[in-house]
Amino acid sequence: MLKGKNILLGITGSIAAYKAANLVRLLVKEGADVRVLMTPLAKEFITPLTLATLSKHSILVDFFDPTNGQWNSHVDIGMWADAYVIAPATANTIGKMANGIADNLLLTTYLSARCQVFVAPAMDLDMFAHVTTQNNLKTLANQGVKIIEPSTGELASGLEGKGRMEEPEKIVAAISAFFETAKRLDGKKILVTAGPTFENIDPVRFIGNYSSGKMGYALAEECANEGAEVFLISGPVAVKTVHKNIKVISVVSADEMLEQCLKYFSVCDAAIMAAAVADFKPKEKEKSKIKRQEREGMVIELVPNPDIAANLGSLKNKNQVLVGFALETDNMLENAKGKLSKKNLDFIVLNPANVENAGFKSDNNIITIIDQTGDVKAYENKPKHLVAKDICDCLYLHLQKK
Ligand code: PMT
Repeated sequence: MLKGKNILLGITGSIAAYKAANLVRLLVKEGADVRVLMTPLAKEFITPLTLATLSKHSILVDFFDPTNGQWNSHVDIGMWADAYVIAPATANTIGKMANGIADNLLLTTYLSARCQVFVAPAMDLDMFAHVTTQNNLKTLANQGVKIIEPSTGELASGLEGKGRMEEPEKIVAAISAFFETAKRLDGKKILVTAGPTFENIDPVRFIGNYSSGKMGYALAEECANEGAEVFLISGPVAVKTVHKNIKVISVVSADEMLEQCLKYFSVCDAAIMAAAVADFKPKEKEKSKIKRQEREGMVIELVPNPDIAANLGSLKNKNQVLVGFALETDNMLENAKGKLSKKNLDFIVLNPANVENAGFKSDNNIITIIDQTGDVKAYENKPKHLVAKDICDCLYLHLQKK
């Protein structure tokens, strides 16, 4: 079940670390490529040599390899992983994860990882039951981390209770179950647009907008995690993805975005239009930089850009699902419904343009999904990777109905 999967195992300083050797062995037996990250304290409980031998990879502990000064990039490690499993996870590490503290490689990698994260707590029963630990676990679960509950039994302290790290067989089963159920878009091809478009005025100036691409990239990654092959047509953004199921096609202007959308849409099962396409472009693009002195009081004549979503809406066949976004400040529901029907979309994702901690640039978003039947569903404010999951749930239901 785990054949070809890259599993990153994070080990923290707990007596249950001895079980990590068996966990690595079982993961490798299931076909996974396993890399191990340890906190410095974890090395006191189990030797890196044991884990390196079982995983067939050197062990990662420090930001730098002390033998040659080579940089262990937490970003690259996080990108490599299809799943990140922290087992055993101490109360200390859980607390730091929940609060964004990143004072070792295991924790910085947690903040960089874009894959599913699992946490298997191991601690004394009172530490586990403590309201702070329980609140920290709730915070992690709300952020999408899967908690593998500890079992009840004899603990290292000699006390009996809940706090024993779950057995390695059960941890492997939880990871396998995730990969089994997480493939709802297997075999599907999905086009996603993301980011802004830039419409050149001259070689150094353009008309653009504040889109960061975060929403579109989160959607592309969620679709890819669900097994889809994704064509991500992206305007100029700073965000990146290295997901192996995502082909990134970089464009600058709305005309270029339209050209690439038309190229890929016919082979796709669905398209999600998250890009903030500039509605207008300058009628003339100057070949040389416009000099300030020459053009005081300058007027730029604008002409409309093509409506990419509406173009795809007119080409859509009965098996394809087309999803649009509506970025609104006023009459939000009414405007979104207008775009839904005008662009022939299957459903539209309404988000606000004037609310703090949502919409443009933010890591979070607040959405309302409206479909062709008039059904309206509002969601709470949450991180964009979780918003992407809500949108994919809706996309999956629409694909099933086709
Ligand atoms: O990139 P982020 O910083 O994460 O921000 C995300 C976002 C706010 C940009 C995103 O969630 C969003 O709302 N994207 C759509 C922005 C937009 O252009 O909305 P609109 O209401 O103007 O357009 C309606 C729909 O038509 C959109 O699906 C849009 O992609 C599409 N459109 C618009 C104009 C145009 N010329 N062609 C289009 O295809």
